Amino acid sequence: MSKTVLVTGGAGYVGSHCCKAFSEAGWRVVVFDNFSRGWRDFVQFGEVVEGDLLSPEDLDAAFETYKPDAVAHFAAFAYVGESVEQPGLYYENNVMGTVRLLDAMAKAGTKQIIFSSTCATYGVPEKMPMTEDLPQRPINPYGMSKLFVEKVLDDYEVAHGIRSVKLRYFNAAGASPDGEIGERHEPETHLIPLCIEGVLNDTFKLTIFGDDFDTRDGTCIRDYIHVMDLADAHLKALDYLEAGGASDAFNLGTGTGTSVMEIVEAVERVTGKPVPRSVGPRRPGDPPALVASAEKAAQVLGWTPVQSGVDRVIETAYGWHLKEIERKTAR
Ligand code: UFG
Repeated sequence: MSKTVLVTGGAGYVGSHCCKAFSEAGWRVVVFDNFSRGWRDFVQFGEVVEGDLLSPEDLDAAFETYKPDAVAHFAAFAYVGESVEQPGLYYENNVMGTVRLLDAMAKAGTKQIIFSSTCATYGVPEKMPMTEDLPQRPINPYGMSKLFVEKVLDDYEVAHGIRSVKLRYFNAAGASPDGEIGERHEPETHLIPLCIEGVLNDTFKLTIFGDDFDTRDGTCIRDYIHVMDLADAHLKALDYLEAGGASDAFNLGTGTGTSVMEIVEAVERVTGKPVPRSVGPRRPGDPPALVASAEKAAQVLGWTPVQSGVDRVIETAYGWHLKEIERKTAR
């Protein structure tokens, strides 16, 4: 009989792509989402419970009904700027929501969890590429909320024997190659979808946030990781916990950095269309460069990104945007 994974935030961007991968690998998938920021049309790969992480009743009912073998925890707010303006929202939803989730797990006897963490827990890194043992010194409440959860997870292991894998994502990007699900945020703040907006919408112009960083072309460098590669890492992490693996943390990136300007050029190359843009001031809190060392995930989880070339990322992202337009026109 197949095992069951409860996926909090399974209606969101990374969560929905992971549901697809889990379901294709034979897991029974149960999405737990309050749809405050998730999308109903992204729930395509399993059952769904509409519930809130801050409600012990909703959680207990879901654990009672589905008796999950493991939890994959994506539900969180993830806007750096918003977290600076409204830190309480982030500590309540991201940290307290996880505490409630872990309490429900402890009560139900579910002992395995995969957690969506972030490179933002490192703050401004001391060295590149970034290994997991670098000091974690977040520079905004979003990163801090994720770091708190990493610590809370360790405490729940001591108290309740819940083993965890913390996956620290670099820049999730791209879409499911079949165009069914993709990157949709409201509002959209991420670079690649905004470049595509520039290609598709005559009235939109991208602002490049600073070209005076100490990098090869003056724009920020990030490590863009294809969302389907991320999904594969989650699947491998589930297998790892199922096999009795010890709690651990892994960076999920490619090891290759790409500058903002290089992304803009790649979007123009892949789509064959110009990305209208201008250079504006730096965005507060943007580190000049964030590039992962992906060695630990390769060694321990046997994970290597295979879809993460920048052109492939953009090709799938663009493909999804075109299909979205088709779907909207057909409605
Ligand atoms: N950028 C622009 N113009 C835009 C949007 C982004 O120049 O309109 C630049 C940013 O300054 C940055 C790069 O493009 O240098 C990537 O920006 P994104 O907003 O796409 O992604 P971030 O690197 O800011 O954010 C990602 C995750 C966050 C996480 C953060 C950690 O989306 O959840 O990495 O640094 F917190």
